[in-house]
Amino acid sequence: MPAATRGTEKKIEALRDKIRHHEYRYYVLDDPEISDAEFDQLMIELQKIESEHPNLITPDSPTQRVGGKPREGFVKAPHSSPMLSLDNTYNEDELRNWERRVHELNGREDIDYVCELKLDGMSLALHYENGKLVRGITRGDGTIGEDVTLNVRTVRSIPLSIPLDKLKKAGIPASFEVRGEMLMPIAAFRKMNEEREQKGLSVFANPRNATAGTVRQLEPSITAQRRLDYFTYALLKDGRNHFDRHWETLNALDAAGFKVNRTRKLASTFDQIWTFIEQEEPKRETLPYEIDGIVIKVDRRTLQQELGYTGKAPRWAIAYKYAARGGITGIEDILVQVGRTGKLTPVAALKPVPIGGTTVSRATLHNLDEIDRLGVKIGDWVEVERGGDVIPKVTRVIEDKDHPRGHKSFHMPERCPVCGGHVVRTEGEADHRCVNANCPAKLRETILHFASRGVMNIDGLGDALVTQLTDRKLVKNVADIYKLTKEDLFSLERMGDKSAQNVLDEIESSKKLPLERVIYGLGIRFVGERTAQFLAEHFGSMDALMKASEEELQEVNEVGPRIAQSIVEFFQEPKNRALVEQLQLLGLRLTGTRKQRGTKLAGKTFVLTGTLTHFTRDEAKKMIEDAGGRVSGSVSKKTDFVVAGDDAGSKLDKAKELGVKVIGEKEMREMLD
Ligand code: IVH
Repeated sequence: MPAATRGTEKKIEALRDKIRHHEYRYYVLDDPEISDAEFDQLMIELQKIESEHPNLITPDSPTQRVGGKPREGFVKAPHSSPMLSLDNTYNEDELRNWERRVHELNGREDIDYVCELKLDGMSLALHYENGKLVRGITRGDGTIGEDVTLNVRTVRSIPLSIPLDKLKKAGIPASFEVRGEMLMPIAAFRKMNEEREQKGLSVFANPRNATAGTVRQLEPSITAQRRLDYFTYALLKDGRNHFDRHWETLNALDAAGFKVNRTRKLASTFDQIWTFIEQEEPKRETLPYEIDGIVIKVDRRTLQQELGYTGKAPRWAIAYKYAARGGITGIEDILVQVGRTGKLTPVAALKPVPIGGTTVSRATLHNLDEIDRLGVKIGDWVEVERGGDVIPKVTRVIEDKDHPRGHKSFHMPERCPVCGGHVVRTEGEADHRCVNANCPAKLRETILHFASRGVMNIDGLGDALVTQLTDRKLVKNVADIYKLTKEDLFSLERMGDKSAQNVLDEIESSKKLPLERVIYGLGIRFVGERTAQFLAEHFGSMDALMKASEEELQEVNEVGPRIAQSIVEFFQEPKNRALVEQLQLLGLRLTGTRKQRGTKLAGKTFVLTGTLTHFTRDEAKKMIEDAGGRVSGSVSKKTDFVVAGDDAGSKLDKAKELGVKVIGEKEMREMLD
């Protein structure tokens, strides 16, 4: 190797170590030493050197967390030894009985226990070989899980590699397995749900479901954005606990750089265990993640082995589950809140009741279906629960002699309580929504979406500026962006002459963007980037789109009844039509070029699988779509053709199983010609 390359290699490795150290400070210890900007700078520097020397890129470089994609779903992977679950106890007596049995079974007096938080996520095994992360496996059925390595690699508190001398110092062999809990912090969970709601996708019920959904995501770059976290609690070698004591295991994992929960205690009596349980319960409220109890484990491995297992759970460990945080109170009224996406949520106004350390006076009823399901009326007594989703919810109506039923039924308003716009409920959906794009409740999000990169691309019109503009009523709808003057901007905080001019320039140049961006920017429910493109190509002008009927809209590629109805409802609202008129007067491009898609493959659904030799999947997809066909990601009875390239896997099997016609690349080309 030439000396110059050796020099660069050394420099790269030093930079990687520096970045790994700061990742550890930030993601494992929650105690950063440098600012985010300084950290980003180090990453940029590393990326730059690596792009100049691609031969020096290694899989464990901090730049390589996101890379590749599982080709077709996840592959099954066996566990080194069964991943067990835990038996649960729900009160002091049950726990006391367990502790007594442990004593009786092994006949000893002096037993040490380790108490840990029971983290509410999903368990996951990580395999390291020669200090390098090689595999991440979900629990699955306990014996066989799924290989989710590419997603696991994106979690920044999981080390991609650990220096062998560090492992040695911690008493850990070079090849080993850790087990622990993957979880989504509450803040990340809320943010993700907000974004999903904005896009018209279903929201996850709690952080645990969100974690499972994210770990089993087929697109690792999405997993990377969702900020999962991982705490370890077991260290195995060849499927067996490596250390003699569990307490030692936790400390060794800590020393090796894994994230180990700091809230843990070594106890030697039942009273000490119980004190820990009682101490930790109120602290749940302030933790950044969800826990649902405490796990108590016998510390010594020899005693663990003596105690053994019952069915799927060890006798040497048990979970003490905290009670769901709930209370009983009366519903004084049912109000309607309008969210940032225009969704109307019925909210119960409650007689204030203390639950889990806070006073609760509001609880969500989600939607009309939920009110019907619960049979709730104003004046009822109800049970209210606070779960992982933080906003308390009504879980059931109480009815007994002390809790008489209420009589007043709730009706969803026909007009939005914030702006008076029309309220609609799309068929087959649970939610009611305000369709007025200018509704103040939606305004901030609407503006941010409109200005964002993939839409009108107005750089500088970010969170802070939009908040000021909407708070001061300088922008009341997206058209107002184009009426802003330098004086308006100059009057805002932290806005100098130059930055004001930059924003105005950005706004001006956004006027040149094509019709599909404006359609996408309007924030019509279910109309994403792709649909907007199809609509622009099909209708060629905003005017024609506005006049289209549901039937006409359904002629457009990928537009079904749900999207068609949403578009019609949007343009039925006079406020939205007025908005489009204003955008036209302000000089935005509301016409484009019509592009008639071919009809050769109209109505036919294709699934692409395996490696194609003549074009990339994206190219093949585009060709099919241009000919009027549709490309789907999964095989079902509705699939017309599966195009199988080399090494086609599970999708090909599925096609055969369902009797779907399988064709090769050549036949696909013939169909297109
Ligand atoms: S020990 C044999 N420790 O709870 C030991 N599990 O209900 C099995 N969990 O599947 C696991 N926090 O996903 C252990 N500190 C902790 C835990 C924990 C959460 C989860 C884990 C397990 C489930 C059993």
